[in-house]
Amino acid sequence: MALRFCPSCIFLLLLLLLLPGPLAGGKLLVVPMMGSHWLSMQKVVEKLSQRGHEVVVVVPEVTWNLKTSQAYKVVTYPVTQTPEEVEDVFRDYMYAHMRGLPFPLNALGVYRSSVEIYNAFFSQCKDLFRSQETLRALNQTGFDAVLTDPIFFCGVTLANYLSLPFVFFMRGLDCNLDFDASQCPSPLSYVPRLFTFNSDRMTFLQRVENALVSLLGLKYCDGYYAEALKFSSEVLQRDVTVKDLLASASIWLMRFDFVFEYARPVMPNMVFVGGINCVDKKPLNKAYAEPTKSDK
Ligand SMILES: *[C@@H]1O[C@H](CO)[C@@H](O)[C@H](O)[C@H]1NC(C)=O
Repeated sequence: MALRFCPSCIFLLLLLLLLPGPLAGGKLLVVPMMGSHWLSMQKVVEKLSQRGHEVVVVVPEVTWNLKTSQAYKVVTYPVTQTPEEVEDVFRDYMYAHMRGLPFPLNALGVYRSSVEIYNAFFSQCKDLFRSQETLRALNQTGFDAVLTDPIFFCGVTLANYLSLPFVFFMRGLDCNLDFDASQCPSPLSYVPRLFTFNSDRMTFLQRVENALVSLLGLKYCDGYYAEALKFSSEVLQRDVTVKDLLASASIWLMRFDFVFEYARPVMPNMVFVGGINCVDKKPLNKAYAEPTKSDK
């Protein structure tokens, strides 16, 4: 009501709302993960850039889908891998998933190819740290924070190296690492572990299974992240564990919500942004949306 009698107040208010972003803009360094992980992060990066923040995405010269864009600045660094090598590793990874071998050969095959693809990604991170020129330029920009997907330990290693606070944008990590590192209580009796397909209401036998999977997970993730941890320890000049690296995240933006998951205790700096996966909407293909003649 007060505004009605104060036209200049309204003008001032409008002016404030219309002021371009850069006044309040921050400098954000984005270390993305290629493949499907990038699809929803790209939307966030574009939006932040539109709102007047200075966003720089650091990208290896050889990737699948991390292309340059008008919407934000991209810094590339040279890598030793050829496009064919990246392609081959990905093909092996897909093949391991599709072969249809019996258990436990399938699990072993998938594990082996996962370690292989992970090390291939991480070798690009080593290339980033070999490029002194890129590192110097990134350090000189004076970023306020790093936005990264923790599955690729490169972002968190770079953030630690540049002594910058970091924000995770993620779907989840194997072996309950995300919840363990942030010290969320995750009782085995009602927090189902990944791939058990149990719910939050487990029978006694399912709880035993949950406990066994949790124990196995320790071994699995040790192998998975071994190479990354060795390298991070070298770069940061101290012995780091997976939990050391993840624990100091300022904010965890989680790309899921409890519509698809079971309720569990989380920390106050974990924010659920599940709807973000549906930003890119497309109408369902007609061929799937309408019943075919034979269905009628
Ligand atoms: C980044 O730049 C600052 C200021 O020039 C310097 O003190 C610091 O050592 C640099 N950090 C790295 C990791 O090079």
